[in-house]
Amino acid sequence: MVERKKEGKSEEKNEDKMEERKKIAIEDLPGVGEATAEKLREAGYDDLMTLAVASPKDLAEVSGIAEGQASKIIVAARRMADVGNFETGEEILERRREISKLTTGSKALDDLLGGGVETQSITEFYGEFGSGKTQIMHQLAVNATMPAERGGFSCHVLLIDTENTFRPERIIQMAKAKGLDPEEVLRSIHVARAYNSHHQILLGEKAAEMTKEFPIRVLIVDSLTSHFRSEYMGRGSLAERQQLLNRHMHDLLKFGTIYNAVVAVTNQVSARPDVFFGDPTSPIGGNIVGHTATFRIYLRKSKAGKRIARLVDSPYLPEGEVVIQVGEDGISDVSA
Ligand code: GTP
Ligand code: MG
Repeated sequence: MVERKKEGKSEEKNEDKMEERKKIAIEDLPGVGEATAEKLREAGYDDLMTLAVASPKDLAEVSGIAEGQASKIIVAARRMADVGNFETGEEILERRREISKLTTGSKALDDLLGGGVETQSITEFYGEFGSGKTQIMHQLAVNATMPAERGGFSCHVLLIDTENTFRPERIIQMAKAKGLDPEEVLRSIHVARAYNSHHQILLGEKAAEMTKEFPIRVLIVDSLTSHFRSEYMGRGSLAERQQLLNRHMHDLLKFGTIYNAVVAVTNQVSARPDVFFGDPTSPIGGNIVGHTATFRIYLRKSKAGKRIARLVDSPYLPEGEVVIQVGEDGISDVSA
C-alpha cells in the first residue's frame, strides 16, 4: 500500500499509473483478438489489472479459453500493467522462447550476434563518426519490413532521430537493393525527430502508444547519447545525466520486452577522455549504457567502405569480430 508519509506525491503517481492502465484495452494484449476479448469481458475480466492478478486456471474455466493461452494473456497483462516485478523462471523461459532475430544484412555480423539482432534486449552500436552506425540503423529499418524467411519481421519501425540524419533517399536505395517496394518500406518507418534529451525521453515513453496503430517491432534511437552529451557537460552534471539516461534506457528495454521488439541504439565514442570515462575508444554513457545494453558492437573504419564490427561484453556469446561492407546498397558481407 501507499506509504502515509509520501502520500500526496505517490498517490498522484499511482493515479496516473491507474489512468494509464485504463487506457490500455484488453485487445491490446498480444493474443487477444475480438472474440477472446468478448469472452473475457463476459466473464468479468474487462481491464488489465483484473487480468494481471487472475490465475490461469480460473481464467480458463470462466472464459472457456485454453489454460495455456490464459497464462500467456496474464503474463502479458502483468507486463503491461507494470505490476509484479517478479516473474517465475517458467515465465521468463516462455518469454525468451518468443525471441526473434532481425538480420543486419551481413551474414557474418548476424552470425557474430548469434543469428541477428535479438528482440527483448537493447543492442548498441558504437564507434566514431562515419563508422557506419546510422547506415546500419537505416538497414535494420528496411530489413524489418521483410518477411521472416528473409530475416525480417514484416513489421513497422519506430525511429527516434536525434541528429537529423534519417535519409529517406537511403531507405529507397536499400529497399531497391533488396527488391522491395521502396514506397511501402517508407510507409512502414515512422520517424520522430527528438529536439533535446527531454523530448527524446518523452518519445521513448510514448513509443508504446504507436503500437496501437501500427505493428511496431523495431525501435531505433540514433543517437542514444548525443543530446545527453551536449546538454550535460562536465563532471558537475554527470550524475543527473546518468540518471536520465538510465531511465530512458529502461523505457526502451521495457518496450522491447513487452512488444517482443528489437531495440537498436547508436552511441559515439568519447573524444574527450578528460570528461568522459577513460580511454578515447570507450562509448559515451559509461556504465549505465553498458549495463543496460545486452549486446554492444564496436564499429571501426577500415579500407574502401569496409567496417570492422566487434562484439563486446556479451552475456553468452563469444567475443569476436567480423568485417562488413557499407556501400550504396547498404550493409552486406564483404564479397570475396
Ligand atoms: P556519426 O553519426 O557521425 O557518428 O557517424 P555514423 O557512424 O552514423 O556514420 P554513418 O553511418 O553516417 O556512415 C557514413 C559512412 O557511410 C560514409 O562515410 C560512407 O562511407 C557510408 N555511406 C553513407 N551513405 C552512403 C552511400 O549512399 N553510398 C555509399 N557507398 N556509402 C555511403
Ligand atoms: Mg550517425
